[in-house]
Amino acid sequence: MLPIQPERFLADLHKLREFGAAGVGKGVVRPAYSEADIAARRWLAGRMKDTGLSVHVDPVGSVFGLAEGRSLLVGSHSDSQPEGGWLDGALGVIAGLEVARASVEAGGPAVSVVSFEDEEGRFGVTTGSAVWSGTLALDKADGLTDRDGVTFGSARGLMPGRADSFVDPARFTGFLEMHIEQGPVLDREGEAIGVVDAIVGIRDMKITFTGEQNHAGTTPMPGRRDAFQALSQFNTLIAERFANVVTPRTVWTIGHVTLHPNASSIVPGRLTFSMQWRDGDADRLGRMETIIRETAEEVAKSGGFGLNFGPMLGLEPVDMDMRLRGALETAAETEVPGRWRAMPSGALHDATNVSKLMPVAMLFVPSIGGISHDFGEDTDEADLITGLRVLARAVQALG
Ligand code: GLV
Ligand code: MN
Ligand code: MN
Repeated sequence: MLPIQPERFLADLHKLREFGAAGVGKGVVRPAYSEADIAARRWLAGRMKDTGLSVHVDPVGSVFGLAEGRSLLVGSHSDSQPEGGWLDGALGVIAGLEVARASVEAGGPAVSVVSFEDEEGRFGVTTGSAVWSGTLALDKADGLTDRDGVTFGSARGLMPGRADSFVDPARFTGFLEMHIEQGPVLDREGEAIGVVDAIVGIRDMKITFTGEQNHAGTTPMPGRRDAFQALSQFNTLIAERFANVVTPRTVWTIGHVTLHPNASSIVPGRLTFSMQWRDGDADRLGRMETIIRETAEEVAKSGGFGLNFGPMLGLEPVDMDMRLRGALETAAETEVPGRWRAMPSGALHDATNVSKLMPVAMLFVPSIGGISHDFGEDTDEADLITGLRVLARAVQALG
């Protein structure tokens, strides 16, 4: 077994949480390129250097700690949602760091570490790894905007010490990402580890209804072109129409809405909302897109609204590599016999993009109460350490 040190791992995990610590409990606000994110990445680069890894900050701000020669890449992301927890992404990065440290101390195997930038999609969907993998061209990424209209191109310029070039993926033999489950299954079933078999696909786009802004007291109800009512109608209709297409695992979310001018006494004239949907079957994602587009067009036509669809962002569902996955399963069975399961990931991960470049696999530890993307996200310390041990065993077996 590699000489991992759980206390050192936990201390670094708590240290990383100090960057952007917020809310009650262990909350974090560390969106991509915020001051907290940049400070955390500088700290992380220092830790990588102390480990004897050579630091490479790529053009979009993803931070790599590179071992010499060919190596296994281990990591995740250290940016957070606008309101996030302390483990989403951070766990995989710090676990990678600890395994790399232990590998250096043991004289091998060679392990490199990464923290990808903007996994949480302030601008796109897993933007940093999407650009590295070629899923998203850099010039296209540069034109993406966050919800305040800031471009990715200008935001990435804030990250200091960026290299002109991307890391050559050929130097890596594979990628392992450890993560919290972010769902209820392991916690509910009393299991310690999930070994991911596949990651679902996602589609995400912004839709705008434009109606007519007017006085809320004097404008009669018939004939109003109220953009909020357009969304309300759209939301009801898609739920009905999806019913014939979806499975119990399919999800869709309207998570961000901008209403203009957003005032009590004004009939809203414009509304932009995010429409996101996820499923393990690419064909189903396509059928849902057709329903979304047709329904929005129908609502717009019947109510006299202008309609605009923004760019469609998305990632396809992917299967994990059997050899890497097998190493995680063997390690899980050794550490926690009978207390692990193979399971799909309903959350997105950088591993989806990295699978275009090399074999990838993932392991999960339980999320207490299934809570994530919330300040309340947490995992028992014992489960964090079990995850680290499983990861270290798998790395050693693969090395
Ligand atoms: C990434 O955090 C996701 O939204 O699944
Ligand atoms: Mn994550
Ligand atoms: Mn997340």
